[in-house]
Amino acid sequence: MTKSRRSRSPRRAAGLIAIGLLLSLGSGCRANDPFGDSDPFPTPLAGAVVAEHPLAVQVGLEVLNQGGNAADAAVATALALAVVYPQAGNLGGGGFALWVPHEGEAWSLDFRETTPAGYRTDLYLNDAGEVVPERSLQTPLAVGVPGSPLGLFELYRSHGSGQITFARLCAPAIALARHGFEVDDFLARDLRRESLRARLVADPAARRLFYPGGEALQEGELLVQPALAATLERYARGGPAAFYSGPTAQAIVETLRAADRRTGSIVGDRHMSLEDLGSYTAKVRKPLVGWFRGDQIISMGPPSSGGMVLLQVLAILEGFPLDAEREACLEKQDLGVFVAAESCGLSSRAVHWWIEAMRRAFADRAEHLGDPDHVWVPLQELLAPEWVATRRISIGERANPNVKAWVAPVPAESGETTHLSVIDRKGNAVSMTTTLNATFGSGILVGEAGFLLNNELDDFALAPGVPNLYGLVGSEANRLRPTKRPLSSMTPTVVREGGGRVSLVIGSPGGPRIITSVLQVMLRHLVYEQDLESAVQAPRLHQQWKPQWTRFEGDWNSPLLEALENQHAQEVAVELETKFGSVQAIHIPESGRPVAVSDPRRGGTGAVQRIED
Ligand code: DON
Repeated sequence: MTKSRRSRSPRRAAGLIAIGLLLSLGSGCRANDPFGDSDPFPTPLAGAVVAEHPLAVQVGLEVLNQGGNAADAAVATALALAVVYPQAGNLGGGGFALWVPHEGEAWSLDFRETTPAGYRTDLYLNDAGEVVPERSLQTPLAVGVPGSPLGLFELYRSHGSGQITFARLCAPAIALARHGFEVDDFLARDLRRESLRARLVADPAARRLFYPGGEALQEGELLVQPALAATLERYARGGPAAFYSGPTAQAIVETLRAADRRTGSIVGDRHMSLEDLGSYTAKVRKPLVGWFRGDQIISMGPPSSGGMVLLQVLAILEGFPLDAEREACLEKQDLGVFVAAESCGLSSRAVHWWIEAMRRAFADRAEHLGDPDHVWVPLQELLAPEWVATRRISIGERANPNVKAWVAPVPAESGETTHLSVIDRKGNAVSMTTTLNATFGSGILVGEAGFLLNNELDDFALAPGVPNLYGLVGSEANRLRPTKRPLSSMTPTVVREGGGRVSLVIGSPGGPRIITSVLQVMLRHLVYEQDLESAVQAPRLHQQWKPQWTRFEGDWNSPLLEALENQHAQEVAVELETKFGSVQAIHIPESGRPVAVSDPRRGGTGAVQRIED
C-alpha cells in the first residue's frame, strides 16, 4: 500500500506541465497530442453541487438536471441558502464568485459590501478614542451596502447558460420562503445560543421572525417568510434594480434609521442612504493564478486576502522537501519505528513548515492588503519568487514568532459565511463564498423585506493594533474609508490539473480560518494523497501571525503536538470545542466521476447528478 502511495508522488512532473503549456497555445495542439494520450480536457460524467444546506443543494442539482450550467446552479443554490440558512445565506451580505470554464480564462466577481459614503472611523470610537466593539458588530455602523443581489445577478448574466431565465432560478427560493421549510437542528441550535439570541431579540423584526411568542423556533417547526418571498418576487421580476431602489431599498434605509435610534443615535444623518444603495457596483476582478506542483491554482484577489495568502503559503512550501520528508516518515512507519506523525506521512516537521509559512503570509496580509480601489496592494511583490525564497530560507527547525511583513523598497504611493461549489457536465466550475460576517450578521432584520443585514464593516482595521471579531489586526491598507470595501479572507478556489481540466472546486466559511482550511485540505489532497473525504475530515490548525501561538482542533494526535512544542518550539493551543471552517469541495478524478464532499463539521451535503451509462 505504501508502495503505491509512493510511486504516485513524483506523478505528473514535467510531462503534464508541458501538456498544459502546449494546450494554452491553442486548440490545434489537441489533435497533435504529443503523448498519444486521451483528451486531456475530458468533461466530467456528471455535474455536482455541494453547499451547507441539503434543501439548497437539491435546488442546485435540479437546475443542472434542467440543463442549467454551473453558474445557473450556483445562483439558484445561493438564493435558496438566503432562505433556508439565515445564519449566513443572504441577500443582505456580499461575497466573491469564481467562474472557471472548462477551457478558457477564469473570471472572478467581487460583490463585497461597501462603506456608506457618510461613515467615518471616528463614529466607531468613544470619547477616549477607543474602538467600541459593538458598534461594528450590531449597530447600523456594522452594515455595509449589500452586494449579493447584484453579484448573483451578474454571475447569471455573464456566465449563465442562457437556457434558464433569472425568474426560474429565483422560483425555488421564493417557494421555500412563501410555503416555509422545516427548521433543522443547526438553525435551532444557533437560535438557542445565548450571544446570538441576545443580538436577534434586540431587533423587533428578527425577534418576531425567529422567536415567535418569545420562544426560539425549534427543530421541525415551519419557518415561513412572506416578506422575504415578496422581496425575492420583486427581484425575480425586476433584477437588482428592484433591490437597490424602490420599496426594498426604502425599507433598508428606514430599518437602519430605526436601529440607530435604538442603539444610541450615533450615526444620525450620516446613515446609509438611497444613493449608497443605488450606486453600488459589483466588480469583475482578475483572479489570482499560481502553480503548485504542476497544478494551476486559481483563487480570489483583493479585496480578499484569500488568494494571496493561499498562493504565498503554497509557494513557500513548494520549496520544502515535502515528498522526501513524507517518504522518510512512511518508511519509518512501515518499519514499525515510532514517529510523531499522521498515518498519511504528515510529520510534525512538515506541520511546523505549514505553520511558519502561514505566519509569514498572514504578516504580509495584515500590513499590505486592503481594497485595491483605495490602496496600493503589492501583490506582485508579495508573490515574487525572490520574496517567497526570502521567506522560505527564514524558516528553520524552530518557531520564529518575530516575523515582519514585507517592506516596500520605496515608499508606496499611497462567524458567518457560507461556501458553495458547483461543477457541470461540461466541466465549468463555480466556487462562491458569501457572508453576513458574524452568524446572523448584525442581527438587524429589514422587517418589511424579510432579510438580515451584514456586519461586514467589522472586517476593517478600525484602529492600529486593535483586533477585530476574528482577532485580526491590520494597517492603513485596511482602514475604514467612505465607499471602501473591507478586507476579506474568503478563498473561493479552483484547481486545474496540470493547467488543464478542472480537478478541484473548493472553499469554506470561517473568517481567517477560511484560508488555512482551504490550504490544509489542498495540501492533504495534493501532497499527502488523502482522498477528498479524508482530507476534509482531518483535523485542522490555524496560524495567523498575531497571536503568535497556533490553534489546533481537538483531534490531533498528542505525540505530534508534543513534538511541535519540544522539537520545533511551537506554541500549541488546543481548542476542544471549536471547529475550524466548513469546507465544501468537489474533486473530479480522472475517471470523471465527481466526488462532492461537505464538511462533517456542519450540516451541509453534496450531490452528484445521475451518471448515464
Ligand atoms: O470576509 C471575511 O473574511 C469574513 N467576513 C468572513 C466571516 C466568516 O467566514 C464567518 N464564518 N464562519
